[in-house]
Amino acid sequence: MSKKSGPSLRQINKFRRVVLDYFDKNGRHNLLWRETRDPYKILVSEIMLQQTQVDRVVPYYDKFLRAFPTVQRLGRSELSKVLTLWSGLGYNRRAKLLRDCAKEIVEKYGGTVPRDRAALESLPGIGPYTAGAVRAFAWNEPDVFIETNIRTAFLHHFNVPHLTHGRKKSGTVRDEEILEIAKRAAQGQEARRWHWALMDYGAHLKRSGVKLNQKSAHYTKQSKFEGSIRQIRGAILRALKTPASKPQIISRCHLESQVTPRGQEFDKALVSLERDGLISKQKGKWRISEA
Ligand code: ADE
Repeated sequence: MSKKSGPSLRQINKFRRVVLDYFDKNGRHNLLWRETRDPYKILVSEIMLQQTQVDRVVPYYDKFLRAFPTVQRLGRSELSKVLTLWSGLGYNRRAKLLRDCAKEIVEKYGGTVPRDRAALESLPGIGPYTAGAVRAFAWNEPDVFIETNIRTAFLHHFNVPHLTHGRKKSGTVRDEEILEIAKRAAQGQEARRWHWALMDYGAHLKRSGVKLNQKSAHYTKQSKFEGSIRQIRGAILRALKTPASKPQIISRCHLESQVTPRGQEFDKALVSLERDGLISKQKGKWRISEA
């Protein structure tokens, strides 16, 4: 690959062949969210799939959509109910953002998920990746986007580290560099099929032991769960939303006695949950936010 001009057309064509051959033979063709064109259902899947493995998402996705089959149903639901259905999936902040997003779609767009990129990106919890994925998977819009598996596919195949310009950390590659190649590779491809194929090929490379994401400037290692603030946050939410029929209102002291590990980290977890709008204080006691 030339440093200045990037990969040749021949290299790009070879990459397309490898990716699409893999997809045709081994792609994950029966994932539930690939069987729908409903932008709301696709949005739910993309939020759930952030930082979470496909196999773990499948049962949650099914259960969640049975409870909230439409954007209207989710938009008007109580946060405690949404969190109950999310329980165990982790990163609960996503659940609140998704509910808030649904609320805004109902209030601002009459319950129709906007197709416009800027409108999508203005919604809670939706960044460039999610906007691109929803547009490609729902409407086949020719957007180009990068997530962890897609990043692996490009880094592996194009040896992108040979590029020398625009680095953030030495030896790491920025997504903007990968996007340049990704845009060329996507030309003439059907956006929906092409991105499914890239994701599946990248996931396959990772399963085969390819560990290239560390070469990315956007790489973040998932932190250990045991003893983490994430774990305490989950335990606090569990205590407050159980039983689901009657979410609790609990004093700090009582709440702390139900949650492990304790100490300084407990207060940090409490503050961060309040900041994320997941819990709020009422007459000196804590509860799941009503808003
Ligand atoms: N299919 C559609 N979106 C996906 C994602 N984010 N991960 C895996 N498969 C998908």
